[in-house]
Amino acid sequence: MNISVNSFRQPSSIGDSVARDLEFRIQNLFAEDVDFPSGIAASEFTSRPVTYDESIIDLGFGLPDPKLFHLDALRRASDEAIRTEGPRALQYGGGAGMMRLPEWVRLVQTRRRNIPCNPGDLLLTHGSSQGMDLLGRLFLNPGDEVWFERPTYFGAIKIFGLHGAKMRDFPMDESGLVTDVVASELKKRQKAALPMPKLLYVMPNYQNPTGRTMTLSRRTELVNLAKTYRFAIVEDDAYGDLRFSGNPLPTLRQLCPSHVFYLSTLSKTVAPGFRMGWLIGPEEAVTKLRELKAEGANGGFVQEILSVFLASMDYDAHISHLQNYYHRRRDAMVSFLERDFPPEVGWTTPDGGFFVWLTLPSWAPLNKVMDLRRSAGVSFIPGTAFYLGEGSQNHVRLSFSLYPPELIVEGMRRLRDLIESLRP
Ligand SMILES: Cc1ncc(COP(=O)(O)O)c(C=O)c1O
Repeated sequence: MNISVNSFRQPSSIGDSVARDLEFRIQNLFAEDVDFPSGIAASEFTSRPVTYDESIIDLGFGLPDPKLFHLDALRRASDEAIRTEGPRALQYGGGAGMMRLPEWVRLVQTRRRNIPCNPGDLLLTHGSSQGMDLLGRLFLNPGDEVWFERPTYFGAIKIFGLHGAKMRDFPMDESGLVTDVVASELKKRQKAALPMPKLLYVMPNYQNPTGRTMTLSRRTELVNLAKTYRFAIVEDDAYGDLRFSGNPLPTLRQLCPSHVFYLSTLSKTVAPGFRMGWLIGPEEAVTKLRELKAEGANGGFVQEILSVFLASMDYDAHISHLQNYYHRRRDAMVSFLERDFPPEVGWTTPDGGFFVWLTLPSWAPLNKVMDLRRSAGVSFIPGTAFYLGEGSQNHVRLSFSLYPPELIVEGMRRLRDLIESLRP
């Protein structure tokens, strides 16, 4: 999995090197910092088209089930968008949707998530991923520090790494990020007049990859640290609407609007192909971010389709349906783990989102499990993808979002048999 641009740059012998020096090689023009900054090439997972091998049950990717894409309603919305606003929406500057969609986000999403938001606090982005990228542009000089949970979402490692961030991670437990450890590092740095982090990236709800939810007391401690030590928090709530159990907790943005940038997306609830997300933050920063979104606003036509589509539906009912749908899948996975997995295997039971974090027994090492997975007809993502460096070698991330319960059970049976085959 360790693919880096460097591996293309190395000549295989001195003779080769002389010959190649005479050739034009496009790689020689690359900027210095385009190599992927951690032990895993996240582009492996995030930038390639998804391909399906029918014989393999892929519990790896966190893909929403395409059966939940409202194709008929989207076709009608697209027809209506062409009919009513087409020429305007297809022009630079967009059409009416460019006003309507941000307003929908502000009213519907912020009501659902309980986030106060003035029009100037909101910026639509190409997925929540672009929100991170823009924050990197606004805040990071090469060498500035970004702090993470350990483990964390590989897309965030990639994006902040590409901005030249110096990255550091902090442990999690069942209650989320262990804020005491963060606090003592901050204290130590302040005492020694060492650089403070500029950003701390965190997923308080159904974290990717662990599925854990940060408790209210940890949330409060974290925003208090941001206030005391003057750093900004990037709160990634990509799965926020998809809660199955437990009580909703306040967002960090709600607890501390002055220090928190909140990111979310329609990728998990409508469809990722729209690349539609949003960022909510302090207005003076959002004004700057708007300028840094150099390619301009999200496409007017896409916004038109989405605003017609969203106006035509009962969004709350749609979300309840998704919650029930994915809840059944989580239960299919977790019940199989409870009933049929060896007792030495550990796992998390998420209150929402798409992921279960599995801890392998000592006799089933990750490299062996990875080697055998294809022949066992099942796939998943190695836990090492979610660490800044080497990472721990005994986890895999499982996603329950893509398949109906019976196929999840079949995938889990294959994984259980694979693990059992390694028992000494
Ligand atoms: C935690 C997290 N943040 C962000 C994203 C990317 O979302 P988007 O499609 O909105 O860029 C994902 C997608 O898997 C994710 O898991």
